[in-house]
Amino acid sequence: MTQAKKRVAIFASGTGSNFQALADDDRLKEVMTISKLVCDKPGAPVVAKAQSRGIDCFVFSPKEYASKAEFEAAILEAIEPVDLIILAGYMRIVSPYLLEHYKGPMINLHPSLLPKYKGVDAIGQAYRAGDSEIGISVHYVNEELDSGQVIAQASLQHPRDESLEDLTQRIHDLEHELLPQVVYQLLTQA
Ligand code: GRF
Repeated sequence: MTQAKKRVAIFASGTGSNFQALADDDRLKEVMTISKLVCDKPGAPVVAKAQSRGIDCFVFSPKEYASKAEFEAAILEAIEPVDLIILAGYMRIVSPYLLEHYKGPMINLHPSLLPKYKGVDAIGQAYRAGDSEIGISVHYVNEELDSGQVIAQASLQHPRDESLEDLTQRIHDLEHELLPQVVYQLLTQA
């Protein structure tokens, strides 16, 4: 018997290369439907990526709401019910409101080997620290920034003479491999 596809919401704020990696993954297409792209930046390239794939979008401007709880309530109303929320380049900290009211799993992709380099510019932080091993993490979201339980990590060796630009590209390539794998595992386990 074929299992019903899981409903997934993806939150993103910018380019959406990870959104694209998830939307175009053939194995994932068998097991999930992206029921909504949530984007807090009208005009961000990720919105066009969703629209060209026929994926529904909830695009909003935070400044049009009185508080974060208010726009998170609007997000929840727009997306539910979903089996999984994926933060893939969503440049906002989710508030306790969303964590309390959304009962399912929520995961985030972060470009560092957590617990190292939480927050913004994680790749730049690792680069400037001179690390030779640099990587990425997929983790559950909790109330603290980039601090929930790590689900999976991947890393690469960074030669001293590699530019930040080349390193950034290789990190993104690694993300595009790891995130779809982790999502597939989460959706098909149990
Ligand atoms: C990725 O590096 C992700 O790890 C970070 O934001 C970036 C998003 O890139 N949280 P994109 O929008 O998916 O291209």
